Amino acid sequence: MKVSIIGGGGRVGSDAAYALQLGGIVREIALVDMNEDMASGEALDLRHGAALTGNCRFTSGQYNVVDGSDCVVITAGLRRKPDESRLQLVNRNVSLFRSILDSLKGCKLADGATIVVVSNPVDILTQLAVEADIVPTSQVLGLGTVLDTCRFRSLLADHFKVGARDVHALILGEHGDSMVPIWSSATINGVKMSSLPGWTQEVADEVFAFTRKSGAEVIRLKGGAGRAVGVSIKEVVEAIALDSGALLPVSALQNGKLGISGISLSLPTVVGRKGVVQILEPDVTEAEREGLHKSAASLKEVYGQLE
Ligand code: 2OP
Repeated sequence: MKVSIIGGGGRVGSDAAYALQLGGIVREIALVDMNEDMASGEALDLRHGAALTGNCRFTSGQYNVVDGSDCVVITAGLRRKPDESRLQLVNRNVSLFRSILDSLKGCKLADGATIVVVSNPVDILTQLAVEADIVPTSQVLGLGTVLDTCRFRSLLADHFKVGARDVHALILGEHGDSMVPIWSSATINGVKMSSLPGWTQEVADEVFAFTRKSGAEVIRLKGGAGRAVGVSIKEVVEAIALDSGALLPVSALQNGKLGISGISLSLPTVVGRKGVVQILEPDVTEAEREGLHKSAASLKEVYGQLE
């Protein structure tokens, strides 16, 4: 599978390219960036590692290198300021994102190609990508709360000193301030979280609070995320490449599950070669359902104000 990363010269895009190289699943990665030298430099640096990582080929350039892509990942965008919410970032990023979509309309993508939106605010921009009609709706995904869920699982594991891969705790809704932790289905390999020594809901809520502000914290400390968002992108792209049917909380245009429709946000979604295979309706508590509806309302309000 050929993947193009629009923004591939930047931190998120290049970390995603590196994660995909180590994964060894995708065959070719094209890096596109306004800063052409950065994209070429990242491609060359990655090519240097082929002998010890596998046969993934790397190219770089402008939109001419996107032709034939099976999956286009869009990471390009201005980064939030530490005290800025993702939704406040929206108008600064929308015009850039719209120009990227216009450029993609001129590319000859492979049949069944998918678009994976990462740029923030990712749910709003996913909605824009759906409405651009470059590929069918089900072939447009956003990274959504895949990163938040990864952080949540990892931080819970850190705190309770258990294996991070064994922690299954979903965050759904907006990749942003209104994200919702789904405690009702959180387990450690099937064992309820409340069985953990030292577990109290207060402690757990603190871990969620830290997860929720982790994006801003990483921006404050190192200027922006790269590593965890890179492996999160890899998880989605490899599910597409392998047609794996992985159940991931990607952002997608909602079609009525839990009574939510007409906006893109994250619910558990079966992901395959052509993107969204099926959006599931998780069994959640009334409070969790209300939180998800608040997420949808908040996103619809912002979407309605786009310039
Ligand atoms: C984050 O949460 C980049 O929005 C991403 O760090």
